[in-house]
Order: sequence, then C-alpha cells, then structure tokens
Amino acid sequence: MKPVTIGLLGLGTVGQGVANILTRNAAEIERRTGRSIRLTRAAVRNKAKAEALNLGIDITTDAQSLVSDPDIDIVCEAMGGDDPALSLLHSAIANGKHVITANKALIAVHGNELFRAASEKGVTIAFESAVAGGIPIIKALREGLTANRIEWLVGIINGTGNFILSEMAEKGRTFDDVLAEAQELGYAEADPTFDVEGIDAAHKLAIMASVAFGMPLQFDAVYTEGISQITREDVEFAEELGYRIKHLGVARRRKEGVELRVHPTLIPERRLLANVNGVMNAIVVHGDAVGPTLYYGAGAGSEPTGSAMVADIIDAVRCLDADPAHRVPTLAFQPDALTPHVMLDTANYQSAYYLRLHALDQPGVLATVTDIFGKLGISIEAILQKEPEMVGELSDDSIEVPNVPIILLTRRVREGLIETAIERIEALSTITQPVTRIRVESL
Ligand code: NDP
Ligand code: HSE
Repeated sequence: MKPVTIGLLGLGTVGQGVANILTRNAAEIERRTGRSIRLTRAAVRNKAKAEALNLGIDITTDAQSLVSDPDIDIVCEAMGGDDPALSLLHSAIANGKHVITANKALIAVHGNELFRAASEKGVTIAFESAVAGGIPIIKALREGLTANRIEWLVGIINGTGNFILSEMAEKGRTFDDVLAEAQELGYAEADPTFDVEGIDAAHKLAIMASVAFGMPLQFDAVYTEGISQITREDVEFAEELGYRIKHLGVARRRKEGVELRVHPTLIPERRLLANVNGVMNAIVVHGDAVGPTLYYGAGAGSEPTGSAMVADIIDAVRCLDADPAHRVPTLAFQPDALTPHVMLDTANYQSAYYLRLHALDQPGVLATVTDIFGKLGISIEAILQKEPEMVGELSDDSIEVPNVPIILLTRRVREGLIETAIERIEALSTITQPVTRIRVESL
C-alpha cells in the first residue's frame, strides 16, 4: 500500500521530536497502522539550520507550497503563533489535508472555526499534543471516560511553571534563573509570559473543558492568574501548614454554571498532585461513574510532545478511509450537541483561601480581623502568627512597633465574600501591607 506522507510546519523542539520518533519507531508504527508513514517535507524560516539536521527530507521556506502539495496527506503544525499558522491550517483543510497541531493558543482561540472548516471538508483535525505534552489526556477524556458525566478536572498543565515552582521550593533557586533554564530546555513558549502568567495553562484548560463538558471553546471565559507573585515566604508558610503551592487549572461544573480558572493554589501535601514536580504535568478528572482518575507524565519537551503528535498521526492514518461521520467527534460530543454553558463570574467561584496579612503587633488586631470574618459568615480553618518583624512604624512615644505576619486559612466560601473581607481588612489602620490571597483546593 502507498505510504502516508507527512508535511511538518516547523522543525523546532516539537517538530524534531516528531521527526525522530517517526524515523526511530517506523517499523513499530507500521505494525500498528498497517501502512508506512513517511515524513517527506518540512517548512521553516531558517533553511540552513533545518538542513543541518540531516533528516533526508525536503526543507522549504515556502510553507504555503507545503499545505497545497498534492503529495502530502497529513499536515502537522508545530510552528506556533497565530500568523501564519491559522491561515496555513485553513489552506491545508481547504486542500483536503488532515491536520494535526500542537498549537494550543490557536486551538483555544480559533478552534471553533477550524473544527467547522474541517468538518465541512470531511478531514480530521487533532490536537492531543496541544494539551499536557505527552499525556494522552484528550484521548482519555474523549474515549476512555466517554461513559461518564465529567464533573470536574484539576491539573498542573504547564511544565515550565511547575518546573519553576518546584526548583524554587526544593532548591531555593530564583524565579529568573529557573525560567532561563526552562527556555534552554525548550519547555517555554516563544513568549514565556504565556507560561508564567497562566495564559498557556488557560489555553489548555479551555480545550479540556470543552472536551470534558461538551461545549464550544470559550477561552475568554477562563480566569487567569500567574505565578510571578509567589514568594518564598508563601511557599514556606504553606509548607508549615501542610500544603504545597502549585499552579492549577480548574474546570468545575456546578448546577449554577461552570468555573474555569487558572491560578496558584495550595494543595494538601499528601495529595498526589502536590508531589508532581519539575516539568511533569498531572490531571485529575472526576467522572460520575468512575470517580477520580489521574493522568501523569512529561508536560513539555521534544519527544514527549512528539509522542502525542505521532499518536494523532497514527489515529488519522487508521481513519483515512473511514466515513467522516464514523470518526470520534473532535470535541468528544456530536457537533450539533455542543451546548454553551453558563460561565460563572469570579464572585461566584467557590474555594477555600490562604490569606497573608501584615499587621502592627498590637493587642486586639487579631480579634478585629476575625470579627470581620465572623460578620461575613466566613469560617476560619487555621491561624498562624509568625515572629514579629522590625519594620513597623513608630508609636507616639517613638518606640518601633513591629509588624507581624498572620496567615489565615478559611473554609470553602464564595469568592465575592473573600473580596469583601480583604477590602475591610486592608482598610484597618493596623494592617500595613496589601493582603496576599491564594486559593486552596483540598481535592
Ligand atoms: P520552536 O520555536 O522550537 O520551533 C518553531 C519552529 O517553527 C521552528 O522550526 C521555526 O523555524 C518554525 N517557524 C516558526 N514560525 C514560522 C514561520 N512563520 N514560517 C515557517 N516556519 C516557522 O517551537 P516549539 O517546537 O517549542 O513549539 C511549537 C508549537 O508547539 C507551539 O505552538 C507550542 O505552543 C507547541 N508546544 C510546544 C511544546 C514544547 O515542549 N516546546 C509542548 C507542546 C506544545 P525557524 O527555526 O527556522 O525559525
Ligand atoms: N510551554 C509549555 C509548557 C509547553 O511549559 O507546558 C507544553 O505545552
């Protein structure tokens, strides 16, 4: 049988992983598909750099010629960005190519239109490599858990961010130093603020939530908070309370609506997710029938991501001759059964909270603070008062009044109430700094 031909858009970290796997595992893959798969062309910007890889394939700087090449069956996009990736994928689809992409930003923002175009043309569009690197989470959500009503999923879904938090906590390294290493290792996005500000995780969360809950992609509905404000102090206080700080994506379906949020989170240290370190990712998915299930693996890097992309290639090859109506639906649900869900605003999110206050070390301060919580009906789970710091103000008789850090853990509460409590606390004359707020999930 004629080999299936692959054209790669991009031959960087991910593209090279795909090329290496397709070459090294060619025989094993052919045993699985019954057909040989050949990478024949790649499009890049710097031709000399790509040719130096000696892959024995045609290298072009004319990406448009690749997506319209009649000899290419499947186009794999690993170049990133919006432009020209989006128009190239539209052209590939219009030319009847099956399309596979690792570009989560593109899928999260433009997925609905790309899926429609692919469906009209009867071609496959697949994006396993776009979410959580090598972990087959899209396959799990779309197929393995297909019997379930999925209630929630929570995950560490950015390898760079987790690498930074782990190295800071375990080795006391600085944020900038670890980020530079993540960039060198090929984990970070072209614009690393996507990693540290949670935008990359938000892209992935939007994709997973659509597949899990059966709704069109809604990237704009994801609340996003990054890790750049996390201090060593908070990492240490969290540890004293028996928690670790992780950057989580949370998608939860409640009867009032859906919460989609990405933010630093305290997790009890005994939970498996709290022990996922370095570039590893992990996602807990809760289905009504199966209960909680956990998926773990490398969240970024050349061959882990290549593994997911090649898996999509193999799936596409297996279905080449299938009636498009008999393929697994792109977002797991039949396209006409996707329903927009009510998205909750942040005031209606529910979570427990870690609050760090800095107060003047004076009698009655703690009582005033706890009174604010009491009046709002917020229950306090734990209070930790640290050693006073000598950075306070002078009292009337010119004696320095030390500051004291106070850590409070609340029970689960509506976010709007916590915002009110913080406003009232910050208005107290005895509170000397803005309150630090980090959400807590007991999972
Ligand atoms: P790299 O920067 O390592 O590689 C990008 C490749 O695309 C390079 O070969 C580059 O060519 C080529 N390229 C970029 N723009 C163009 C263009 N306009 N025309 C032609 N070629 C172009 O990126 P990654 O491999 O890290 O990432 C690629 C995609 O995969 C991104 O969407 C990313 O989000 C996603 N991803 C990355 C993961 C990772 O671990 N790195 C994991 C999961 C997904 P040249 O070198 O010549 O400039
Ligand atoms: N920059 C991403 C990360 C790549 O660090 O997770 C994998 O999607």
